[in-house]
Amino acid sequence: MKIAVLPGDGIGPEIVAQAVRVLNALGQKFDLEEAPVGGAAYDVAGHPLPPATLELAKKADAILFGAVGDWKYDALARELRPEQAILGLRKHLELFANFRPAICYPELTAASSLKPEIIGGLDILIVRELNGDIYFGQPRGIRSSELPLFKGAREGFDTMHYSEPEVERIGRVAFEAARKRGNKVCSVDKANVLETSQLWREVMIRISKEYPDVELSHMYVDNAAMQLVKAPKAFDVVVTGNLFGDILSDEAAMLTGSIGMLPSASLDKNNKGLYEPSHGSAPDIAGKDIANPLATILSAAMMLRYSLGMPAEADRIEKAVQKVLAQGLRTADIYTEGTQKVSTVQMGDAVVAALS
Ligand code: IPM
Ligand code: MG
Repeated sequence: MKIAVLPGDGIGPEIVAQAVRVLNALGQKFDLEEAPVGGAAYDVAGHPLPPATLELAKKADAILFGAVGDWKYDALARELRPEQAILGLRKHLELFANFRPAICYPELTAASSLKPEIIGGLDILIVRELNGDIYFGQPRGIRSSELPLFKGAREGFDTMHYSEPEVERIGRVAFEAARKRGNKVCSVDKANVLETSQLWREVMIRISKEYPDVELSHMYVDNAAMQLVKAPKAFDVVVTGNLFGDILSDEAAMLTGSIGMLPSASLDKNNKGLYEPSHGSAPDIAGKDIANPLATILSAAMMLRYSLGMPAEADRIEKAVQKVLAQGLRTADIYTEGTQKVSTVQMGDAVVAALS
């Protein structure tokens, strides 16, 4: 099994290193090959997604990704910014289905900013479309305004669109996922304002007929943002477009106490995938050995389960993570009084030890 390892920027290299240790400790033979991505790749190759990195990602069975982005690249032209690496990988590899689970571990209930009764036992799944929407829509740019009131002023513009087959394929992914969980799909859109959303909703209703055992509901994105903090446990699977999914998945992640705990998977139609923590590169804490490696370690578990057909090994990793939490070990982001604060490397040590 060939795994492309792309650590990236900020805390990326530190957390990916721990996930790699955990993979190597499983006693299986993985062919791990590392390549630079994001700002780190710009520094050495002049581009955030150099051809060699893209080639490696294409030929690998799965990709383990850290994070990209650092303020020091803020002044670069958009096409050279670190974020283009992850957007490019998603697009080039047609990774259109993004799974972002938001799970509240019992041991971490106190780390959430919400009341324990609201989030205790939370287990929801956000399915975010990743290849379309305003993220990739053309035309886009900065031009001179034609609005009578602002004529000649600089104007930024982007295009939101979704075709029926794009909505269908992400919809099916969500319905299939719901069948393996609580049999509920909530489709989030802005159909009261946007044509894109109107079509989205029509398609969701149409394909829902093929899944009579799954209950489909609809929610406007503003209301969904509110319901996520009011009664998050009412959700099971949430399916939504690229932009709304970006926002709602951060919100859902934070409900659980720490975004540092949440893995994600981005899959193509054959379940080849890229696995990354839901959090970003956190350049403010990079290199300090304080970042939480658990989201990346759990992403490696998802990789074993979804792309590499190794569910038993995935279970072993997930159980090991639960064990270290039960032991009271916490990185700074999930630390609460009465627990034991550990570093990035110490957390990796503990998970490796808990595997056996
Ligand atoms: C995410 C990130 C990316 C996105 C950025 C880094 C381009 O926020 O994976 O959610 O907006 O999709
Ligand atoms: Mg995001």
